[in-house]
Amino acid sequence: MNILIIGAGGREHAIAAALAKNPAVETIYAVPGNGGMAAFCECVPELKATQLEEIREFALAHNVRFAVPAADDPLVAGAVDVLEAAGIACFGPSRAAARIEGSKVFSKNLMKQYHIPTADYAVFHESAAALAYLEEYETYPVVLKADGLALGKGVIIAQNRREAQDAVRLIMEDKKFGASGSQIVIEEFLTGPEVTVLSFCDGETCVPMVASMDHKRARDNDEGLNTGGMGVVAPNPCYTPEIAARCAEEIFAPTLAAMRAEGAPFKGCLYFGLMLTPHGPRVIEYNCRFGDPECQTILPLLESDLLTVMRACREGGLAGLEIRWKAAHACCVVLASGGYPEQYGTGYPICFGDTGEAIVYHAGTKRREDGAVVTAGGRVLNVVALGAGLREAVEAAYRAAGQITFQDAFYRRDIGQRALEALLP
Ligand code: AMP
Ligand code: GLY
Repeated sequence: MNILIIGAGGREHAIAAALAKNPAVETIYAVPGNGGMAAFCECVPELKATQLEEIREFALAHNVRFAVPAADDPLVAGAVDVLEAAGIACFGPSRAAARIEGSKVFSKNLMKQYHIPTADYAVFHESAAALAYLEEYETYPVVLKADGLALGKGVIIAQNRREAQDAVRLIMEDKKFGASGSQIVIEEFLTGPEVTVLSFCDGETCVPMVASMDHKRARDNDEGLNTGGMGVVAPNPCYTPEIAARCAEEIFAPTLAAMRAEGAPFKGCLYFGLMLTPHGPRVIEYNCRFGDPECQTILPLLESDLLTVMRACREGGLAGLEIRWKAAHACCVVLASGGYPEQYGTGYPICFGDTGEAIVYHAGTKRREDGAVVTAGGRVLNVVALGAGLREAVEAAYRAAGQITFQDAFYRRDIGQRALEALLP
């Protein structure tokens, strides 16, 4: 069976590697793919992930039987609808269901209507009304979010009224995040440990995967700018069995029921970004896809066959499927280009060294014509190691990361430290 993966990052590399373990899988095509995927997939760099009509024609011409649009923009643009209409089975939400990530106004209103715990908020369609609201608003910091997809950058935490008003102007008037700023959500600032829970969904049932902890800031001690994610550990020690049970009852099942009631049952991977506040777990954000780099951290822990689970998400029957996980810990360290998440250079050759047992997923790399692998993005590589305990996993990931060199490379030195502290008695 031929498979198509849409996307170019470490997440897509990890999904491809997991699917490749199934003996029924023949060729894996990746649109556009990257330098690491090129070692075992047919990459199609001339197509962009959002060229849906062209991707459909490519898939039909190459006898693709199963597709995984893994990135947010093709999903929000309707990749699943386009491919399914052409008879190609997909893992992922329909365009209607992908609105859970594609529109923050949709997801906030969904949570309010169906009593799913989240931060209190207000929605504005015009900057004048948002500015007037802030004139009366007294509790700072406050959080401002552009409605649509903004490459993970559409969230601003304002420390005072002036910063909040500047943020409204930036998002709604200067359109800093493009069309995604035509509506804005202004919401209450919450505090507490953050947890990512990815889940497999078949429209009816939501099966959580191992919970993880992302590290979103660029620098150690959670300093520097927000990024797509600089490292992850799993399981997340803050996410106790009691909290998990509460989330299942108060958040996961109600979200699936809400999407069904809206006529948009959610199939695929639903990402719950949670904050464990003193008043209980709250949803910070939903994503309609695997997290990156959460995916790279968690899939190596999956013992069951990924293709079987993905097919069950599409066809139903997740409730009756046993999904097995390794009883291990995983740590992912992201090697990034100097300057990321702002300006950075590309095209630097990568020297891999001896990374031992660790897994090295490529996130932003390209295979040159002469065969050399060079940097091609901000987040370049994801080094993932497993261990019997969290400390072993963290140490193994850093040992391997230390073997890899390229010009201006940097990585955080404290991935997993907060999790290790949380484990102390
Ligand atoms: P997002 O782009 O939605 O993932 O948000 C980026 C980050 O902003 C989150 O990981 C949180 O750390 C933070 N954040 C978002 N919403 C809130 C909130 N209501 N209160 C506190 N922090 C928030
Ligand atoms: N790592 C955060 C995300 O994928 O959105």
